[in-house]
Amino acid sequence: MKKKLKTSRRRFVAAAAATTGLAAAATFVPARFAIGARAPVKIGVLLPFGGVYAMLGNSITDAMKLRIELAGGKLGGRDIEYVIVDSEWTPAKAPLKAKKLVSKDRVDFVVGPVHSGIAMAMSTVLRPRKLPIWIIPNAGNNKLTRELCAPHIFRTSFTNWQSAHVAGQLMANEGIKTAVTCTWKYAAGTQMMEAGKASFEKAGGKVIKELWVPFPDVEFQAYLSEIAALKPDAVFSFYSGGGAVKFVKDYAAAGLKDKIPLYGPGFLTEGATKAQGDAAEGIKTALHYADNLDTKEDNRFRAAYKKATGKDPNVFSVQGYDTGSLLLQAMAAVGGDAGAREEIIDVMETATFYDSPRGVWKMSKAHNPIQDIYIRRVEEGRQIKIGMGAEQLEDPATGCKMS
Ligand code: BEZ
Repeated sequence: MKKKLKTSRRRFVAAAAATTGLAAAATFVPARFAIGARAPVKIGVLLPFGGVYAMLGNSITDAMKLRIELAGGKLGGRDIEYVIVDSEWTPAKAPLKAKKLVSKDRVDFVVGPVHSGIAMAMSTVLRPRKLPIWIIPNAGNNKLTRELCAPHIFRTSFTNWQSAHVAGQLMANEGIKTAVTCTWKYAAGTQMMEAGKASFEKAGGKVIKELWVPFPDVEFQAYLSEIAALKPDAVFSFYSGGGAVKFVKDYAAAGLKDKIPLYGPGFLTEGATKAQGDAAEGIKTALHYADNLDTKEDNRFRAAYKKATGKDPNVFSVQGYDTGSLLLQAMAAVGGDAGAREEIIDVMETATFYDSPRGVWKMSKAHNPIQDIYIRRVEEGRQIKIGMGAEQLEDPATGCKMS
């Protein structure tokens, strides 16, 4: 019975996604749910709307809503109620906030967070439960799609390993022999530095010093002085949002930009170049999005996002947009029955995103994107794709056992 359902839904989703960009999928309503109560679907959104990651939270939210609006504004024929909660920036409050979404607000889906440490804290509440389905639209914490993977946890973004692994290789390919790492000390920073260091050293490079900045501090002067004294061939960093703006500007102001090139996962410049100005020009990074992909899907997305928000999109808005697509696909397949856990999981774990602005990607067995990673260089404030870092890169998903 379940197998039959699985096959027909998969075919339906593929056809809808390929031909109509999912607009038709949103109107498909199986009879079993068409007559019942049509209360709004509740989506709990736990993202940062203040502090260094505010830009990320806003970009994700705007684009997720936009994607759903473009498909008719409903999920499986039902209206939507968003329960928006500011995750802030410390993991300590996250379990309580997640608990409230589940027990008091009784949301059907949770979307969030941005921060890898907050994701771990949320997992203490969400992972042991079978519902709601949890979609992570940014936080790359490797563990949640490795040893802590679970049937109802999905990610539409990346693991911290993916682009850092490619950025480490990029540095070695460019002839860099020695590097200093400099990042925020929390899960995203430690996992990205570990991945970048491993691929860089495997290719013959050497990390001579690791500098750790407490999150979310943006006082970089002491670290920049140490980098100047160490004189490595390059610096490998992860910062994002307001921290990336400050670090890249301080790096240039300290006179390091033209002496010691900066590399890293593309978060270093993503959504930040307007504020970074000349300090960002020429920086090479690796990421699953670029500003000049020039595909039909991306051009359509960029125009719609600009029209809706007045802003240029970034990778975070792409991840929000694809979160909207995932919700549309799943809810269309079950005719709006958010309690149809097994069927929703079936659809989500076999989903292929033909209309993603980042290029076609599909969900891995561990529920993380298998996606292209681009090499980009900042040119006149734009993230220009200058090469392919890795095609359809899949996280190793070490230790993931779906039960
Ligand atoms: C993270 O904490 O996982 C993260 C935050 C910002 C950008 C990328 C990753």
